[in-house]
Amino acid sequence: MKKILLILLTLCMMIGLAACSGSNTSDEAAGTDNEKASTEEQTSEVEGNDSENSTLVVYFSVTGNTRGVAEKIADITGADVYEIKAAEEYTSEDIDYDNSDSRTTHEQNDSSARPEIGSDTISLEGYTTIYIGYPIWWGQEPRIMDTFVESYDFDGITMIPFCTSGSSDIGQSGQNLADNAGSGSWLEGKRFAGGASEDEIRTWIDGLQ
Ligand SMILES: Cc1cc2nc3c(=O)[nH]c(=O)nc-3n(C[C@H](O)[C@H](O)[C@H](O)COP(=O)(O)O)c2cc1C
Repeated sequence: MKKILLILLTLCMMIGLAACSGSNTSDEAAGTDNEKASTEEQTSEVEGNDSENSTLVVYFSVTGNTRGVAEKIADITGADVYEIKAAEEYTSEDIDYDNSDSRTTHEQNDSSARPEIGSDTISLEGYTTIYIGYPIWWGQEPRIMDTFVESYDFDGITMIPFCTSGSSDIGQSGQNLADNAGSGSWLEGKRFAGGASEDEIRTWIDGLQ
């Protein structure tokens, strides 16, 4: 009898231990998931579209003219704004167009130049219209704009280029961006003077619809 009781007791202990180790395993699994989620949050540099806004204004500007137009577009349309910043900021020497050896002269003379973007990546989820603005450099879009359009998928998005310049028109720059992007539905773009008025910009936007 004693022997049978001992065997039963041993069996109970074994079952108890097995149940314990089972729950430990699932705790560890949950811990692994949590760690993964928090690691993803920490390493993620993607700016999310928290606003549920469907319009975005993307712009690059060194001396502020394009920024001014971009902000007016955002005011008029209620859009979100994303600034393309160069990883290596452009100095006044860099944008000296009188110097044949300046950074911008070199970049604009090399159609394969792709200056690195320093601003966080943006999630385009939920956006259906993107205004995309830049200054005209040597009659073209700055090469960093090509870096940008080649980095994203614009499927299902209406892309509307705009630029500022001293006097040059938008030229082929909008088409170049469309070609390099390879996705998105690109409208003909529009050139503005640096100090374009809100009325002028509003008239253009109204004419797009
Ligand atoms: C390197 C460089 C090249 C430029 N090339 C032209 C040009 O070909 N035609 C033109 O009308 N303006 C040209 N500009 C003037 C800019 O397009 C104009 O000042 C623009 O509004 C600057 O925009 P931002 O202030 O947003 O940087 C050039 C400016 C720079 C710095």
